[in-house]
Amino acid sequence: MLAQNPPKHFLDLDQFDTDTLRQVLDIGRTYKDQKTAAADRRPLAGKMLAMLFDKPSTRTRVSFEVGMKQLGGDVVILSQRDTQVGRGETIADTARVLSRYVDAIMMRTTSRENLAEMAAYATVPVINGLTDESHPCQLMADVMTFEEHRGPIRGKVVAWSGDGNNMAASWVHAAVRFGFELRLACPKELRPSQELLDWARAQGGKVSLSDDPYAAVAGADCVVTDAWLSMGDEEKGEVNRHNLLAPFRVDERLMAAAKPDAIFMHCLPAHRGEEVTGPVIDGPRSVVWDEAENRLHAQKGILAWCLG
Ligand code: CP
Ligand code: NVA
Repeated sequence: MLAQNPPKHFLDLDQFDTDTLRQVLDIGRTYKDQKTAAADRRPLAGKMLAMLFDKPSTRTRVSFEVGMKQLGGDVVILSQRDTQVGRGETIADTARVLSRYVDAIMMRTTSRENLAEMAAYATVPVINGLTDESHPCQLMADVMTFEEHRGPIRGKVVAWSGDGNNMAASWVHAAVRFGFELRLACPKELRPSQELLDWARAQGGKVSLSDDPYAAVAGADCVVTDAWLSMGDEEKGEVNRHNLLAPFRVDERLMAAAKPDAIFMHCLPAHRGEEVTGPVIDGPRSVVWDEAENRLHAQKGILAWCLG
C-alpha cells in the first residue's frame, strides 16, 4: 500500500485544539441548517464506515448509520460476536484488515487501550463511539445543543450531579477546550480520576469537584447527569451505587437551585426515578430530545472532518 498522510482520528476532545473542535461543530451545523449546495451534501459518496460494537447502543448506532447515508456513504455494523476478535484475533490485526476494506472505523469498546490499539494500527480514521473512559461524540452534540438553547458556552456554568463516569470525563475535556466552568458533584467513592482533574488544572480549566450537588448547581446554566450504572458496571458490583448516588438525583428541588432558565441535559438512556425524576426529564427545561437529535448533526461534522 502506498504511504499516506496519517489518518484523522477522532479519539478524545483533549487531543484537539479549540479551533479544530469548532470547525467540526460548524460543519455539522452547516449540514443541519442545509446551508450547503445540494451537490455538496453527499461528500462521502462511495465511502464506507465500519462500526464495531462491544457494548449495546441505540443512538450512536442509528445516528452514525443515518448520518453516513445522508452524506452519501454506507456502513458495515459488527458486534463482538460477529468478528474473530471474540475468538482472540488481535485488535491490531483487525485494524489492518478493516483498513483495506473501509474508509473509517467507529468503535464502541470497553477500555481506551482497545481504542488506542485500533487507532495505532488502522490506516483509516478511527472514531471513539464510547469507552469506559470517555464519550467525545456525545459531548460534541451536547455543546451544539447547549449553544442552540443558551448561546455561546464559553464562560457559562455547567453542573454535573452524579457518577464521575465516562460522560463526566468528556465534560471535563469539553470544559477545558470550549472554555466553560464545570462543577462536578460526585460521591467520594465515584469521583473522576485525579489524573483527569490534574490535566484540567494544568490546562487552566475551570473545573471543580465536590460532593454537594446544591453548591454545584447554584447559578448554573445547565444541569447534567447520567445513569447510575454504566454499561459494564453491573459486572463490577464493587459498591452500592444506588445508595451512594441517591443524594445526587436531579429532581425539581435541585433544578430549582440552578438559574431560573437553566436547562437539563442527559445523554440517554435515562432511568426515571434513579438519576433523574420524570418531571425533570419530561419537563419544560429538559432538552434531551434535541440533544439526542444533535448526535446525528454533530457526527456528520465528525465524519466529514475525518474523511474530508
Ligand atoms: N448516548 C448514547 O451514546 O446512547 P447509546 O448508548 O444508545 O448509543
Ligand atoms: N455512562 C453511560 C453512557 C451511555 C451512553 C455508559 O457508559 O453506559
